[in-house]
Amino acid sequence: MSASEYQRRRAALAERIGPEAIAIVPAARETERNAGVNHPFRQDSDFRYLTGFPEPDAIAVIVPGREDGEFVLFCRERDPEREQWDGRRIGAEGAVTDHGADQAHTLAELDQRMPELLAGRTRLHCPIGADATFEARIQDWLGRARAATRGSTPVPETLTRIGVDLHELRLRKDPAEIALMRRAAEISAEGHRALMRRCRPGLPELSLEAEFQYRCADAGARLQAYPPIVAGGANACILHYTENDARLRDGELVLIDAGGEFEGYAADITRTFPVNGRFSTPQRELYDLVLEAQRAAIAVACPGASVDAPHQAALGVLTRGLVRLGILEGDPETLLQEGAYRPYYMHRTGHWLGMDVHDVGRYRDQDGAWRALEPGMVITVEPGLYMPDDARVPIAYRGIGIRIEDDVLITADGHEVLTEGAPKDPEEIEALMAS
Ligand code: GLY
Ligand code: MN
Ligand code: MN
Repeated sequence: MSASEYQRRRAALAERIGPEAIAIVPAARETERNAGVNHPFRQDSDFRYLTGFPEPDAIAVIVPGREDGEFVLFCRERDPEREQWDGRRIGAEGAVTDHGADQAHTLAELDQRMPELLAGRTRLHCPIGADATFEARIQDWLGRARAATRGSTPVPETLTRIGVDLHELRLRKDPAEIALMRRAAEISAEGHRALMRRCRPGLPELSLEAEFQYRCADAGARLQAYPPIVAGGANACILHYTENDARLRDGELVLIDAGGEFEGYAADITRTFPVNGRFSTPQRELYDLVLEAQRAAIAVACPGASVDAPHQAALGVLTRGLVRLGILEGDPETLLQEGAYRPYYMHRTGHWLGMDVHDVGRYRDQDGAWRALEPGMVITVEPGLYMPDDARVPIAYRGIGIRIEDDVLITADGHEVLTEGAPKDPEEIEALMAS
């Protein structure tokens, strides 16, 4: 991602919040895992979107129209001793020369400089409701600004959650972001193909998790977008099964929901396939139904359509299919109205996808209506069926869980499935597994 991309995004945010406002966006902090060992660091998505600055603890300040520069960055001080232990630091100078900051200062200068930046602005856009400690610091800076100006200049009285404006920008992906999402999708799709080739009865679920993570990391996606789900047999009916500690059994399906994160962007793919490489007839009946629902849902994903349209399309296909298979009884339209599918399909058909796997952005307009899809938005389409292991369903279907999930970019004239590289046609899966 080039420096000019970040510059363009900061300018877009500045334009949205207006010349009276100021925005404060903090980087992620390091968090301890145990006894002096930290969790792997992942930059805050909002902060990364606006700056590309990779270090923890930094704070970006965007001050629209400010004469001495609109982008001020506070970051960790260079420190040869700490750098020898913990790694290189960019420092204030590097933030200006290599990261596009108009001005940069060390974190030690925050309490002195922040009140000066706040003075003269009427509105503050900042995180609200996520980090009480940081919000207390903001209140402290506002207090200092009020004390220093003593009413001679305005100090922000209105606080707006940063996401109100920033997340509308993040929701519509720019071409540079789309390129990264394509790559995240390709790497992850290739990972799923590798698992289809590797899978066999007796293999631990963990072996497939390990193989997926290796494939992603080896292709440049070191972090996963979320913990991989490798669910053999009835484990697939637990939606967020992440134990991945059973063995895969002959005659069962395995559901794999896994996606890598490439340069800050997520992929989110689910494939379900037979452990031994051949679908049984009942497995195939349910699989074909989920696939039909998924294709119907993808077909309606286009600009101007409601973000709820794919879900409605999937529900219609699934409900009619459940009647056809004898799992539901009655008039499909009435069953649909009643939500009779819910014991077998209890989640929505998709969500926004971007830097976060469950990406930011509102799903409804101010008046509560579902919003319309627009070019540049990316959604997942992920219907499923989860058959309880009890008398509600015919014996042949009990304990079968299936989900098929793709990542779909809305384009000017329709959509593009970013995750096409992972086979979902059952015959294609069987052919790949036999090869
Ligand atoms: N992998 C999480 C989800 O599909 O929403
Ligand atoms: Mn998923
Ligand atoms: Mn998903």
